[in-house]
Amino acid sequence: MTSASPLSTVRAVCPGSFDPFHLGHLDVVRRAAAVFAELVVLVLANPAKPGRFALAERVRLIEESLAAAGVSGARVVGAAGGLLVDHCRELGAGVVVKGVRGPLDLGYETPMAVRNRQMTGVETLFLPCAPELSHVSSSLVAELAALGGPYADLVPAPVAAALASRA
Ligand code: PNS
Repeated sequence: MTSASPLSTVRAVCPGSFDPFHLGHLDVVRRAAAVFAELVVLVLANPAKPGRFALAERVRLIEESLAAAGVSGARVVGAAGGLLVDHCRELGAGVVVKGVRGPLDLGYETPMAVRNRQMTGVETLFLPCAPELSHVSSSLVAELAALGGPYADLVPAPVAAALASRA
């Protein structure tokens, strides 16, 4: 006998800088959107990372990428700053979902997950990324694009077109 997952009533937030959005992100968003009642892809500025695409352009590229991939149940929201926990409160989301590529990502994400839970009780769930995409990162894609290397097999078509138009 099967029953609906308790998570299918929960609104979750998938945060990131997504600069640019790549196939590893798309895989995580697709899988999370299938688990939760509603998924908000929250595009946040990360002060520690250089901004490549403007926030509004990142939002548009993710919307186009999700539509092209037939991913439903996810909406995209951009925020120029602020604490993730405050955005979760405003969005009515009690769960954060993050993709992790391996131990390095887990080491980076865990302190933030712990602190976010301490601050407001919001829980973070980690999704292991698809192994065939574990080498893909926004910085790798951006470096390939900047140096004339191939990247079109690592990103959704709208992102590939946006990167190509900048070359
Ligand atoms: O894709 P990234 O760059 O790994 O995303 C990191 C991001 C933007 C999700 C993270 O830096 C974040 O949550 N920033 C919001 C600011 C915040 O809440 N900082 C305190 C964390 S305890």
